[in-house]
Amino acid sequence: MSGNLTTVAYIAATILFILSLGGLSNPESSRRGNLYGMIGMTIAVLATILGPRVSAGGIAWIAAALVVGGALGLYLARTVQMTQMPELVAFMHSLVGLVAVVVGYASDIDPTAGAGMSPAEIGIHHVEVYLGVLIGAVTLSGSVIAFGKLSGRISGKPLLLPARHWLNLALLLLVIGLGHAFLGAPSIDRGMTPLIAMTVLALLFGVHMVMAIGGADMPVVVSMLNSYSGWAAAATGFMLSNDLLIVTGALVGSSGAILSYIMCRAMNRHFISVIAGGFGGGGAAPAKAAGSAQPAGEVVAVSAQETADLLKDAASVIIVPGYGMAVAQAQHTVYEITKYLREKGKNVRFAIHPVAGRMPGHMNVLLAEAKVPYDIVLEMDEINADFPGTAVAMVIGANDIVNPSAQDDPTSPIAGMPVLEVWKAQTTIVMKRSMASGYAGVDNPLFYKENNRMLFGDAKKMLDDVLTALKS
Ligand code: TAP
Repeated sequence: MSGNLTTVAYIAATILFILSLGGLSNPESSRRGNLYGMIGMTIAVLATILGPRVSAGGIAWIAAALVVGGALGLYLARTVQMTQMPELVAFMHSLVGLVAVVVGYASDIDPTAGAGMSPAEIGIHHVEVYLGVLIGAVTLSGSVIAFGKLSGRISGKPLLLPARHWLNLALLLLVIGLGHAFLGAPSIDRGMTPLIAMTVLALLFGVHMVMAIGGADMPVVVSMLNSYSGWAAAATGFMLSNDLLIVTGALVGSSGAILSYIMCRAMNRHFISVIAGGFGGGGAAPAKAAGSAQPAGEVVAVSAQETADLLKDAASVIIVPGYGMAVAQAQHTVYEITKYLREKGKNVRFAIHPVAGRMPGHMNVLLAEAKVPYDIVLEMDEINADFPGTAVAMVIGANDIVNPSAQDDPTSPIAGMPVLEVWKAQTTIVMKRSMASGYAGVDNPLFYKENNRMLFGDAKKMLDDVLTALKS
């Protein structure tokens, strides 16, 4: 394939990637978005393999790597549980970081890399190598720690070393100093020591940065590492002089940054304070912050039959799904109940909190999988004002996102986080297995409110019973 044809193919792939991102911004067009992405990636890979920069001997190696990588990817995609997606995503980000580091070292020691370049161009190439390895190493170790935290292998508690901000500043100054030494090195051998030293520091920085971030801020960390992995890919593109990789990396980097911003807004957090760390201990035990108001009163438990009776009498119902619905895989039964109630002329809608579940869009994906019509699935801002006029708000395996202490208790660890105001409905029904807290580890006064009822049990089993009771 000629160089010109490769360029045309790269432009086509770039357009498809942009269309893909556009499609993924809406559940209705997300399948189309995925398809554009797949076609774009196929064109990009084929154009690169068949392009002028890969020799005939290299094609066999690449084909073998594609088979191994493709088989692994297929296996993971088929076996991973929906609830394990965030940790899988974090793991994949670590691979992008690793690739940026390895490519950085390879292009530093490649004797042909500087051939035909002017001294200024060689200098720029060295800057690309240094920045690529730096971003890649931070992404690599940060993502490994994020994987550990999300999968519960590492505690969600923030690790707060004394004078940690000074430590970070010292690391930054050291990295700048080593960069100076690397760029001024007279030979590849002499430049290797500062490059290796910087890699070690960057790996330590990535570990320290994510260890300091508490469980409650992990959603932002995942999207932030997504953004870093994009910049690491763009840096790799610069090192390899591959325009498509630069553009694709920049697309991932900037969309990840926008997503981090949206998530911060959804959790009422400032991006800088998330990065600075220390917020939200996470874990399963309820946080007992000094002075924080402990919920008081009695909880009223109801049966599946009583829940069905409440739903039968309600003219309007808002369903709030959360992480527990994903764990129980209850989305199909939820839709069966929705269909039944709608057939009886009731107004049934879904309220989606931006950080419900464990990854952006988690609930939308599950509801789309169960074929819930998109027009009754509303975002928090679109539906929050409607709870006062609603007969029943049914909370299915959600906790933090419906916690009134975010509004009422300034000492609560989640104070200020926007929440779905379910308690303003005439009656609230919360479906969960026990009185345990949610991801942020804080008590939920909603359970004790006078108009709240608790339906204890696995969401799937309880909803099956509710459906049977509705139909009987
Ligand atoms: P959570 O606050 O984590 O609450 C989920 C509840 O589901 C738990 O209290 C649990 O109570 C219940 N549950 C678990 N398994 C269940 C089952 N089989 N059947 C019925 N209930 C079950 O979830 P949420 O309200 O969706 O809030 C999300 C939280 O995760 C937020 O704190 C958010 O910041 C955080 N987070 C979000 C993301 C993204 S991007 N969405 C990423 C990481 C973290 P029981 O144990 O009593 O059943």
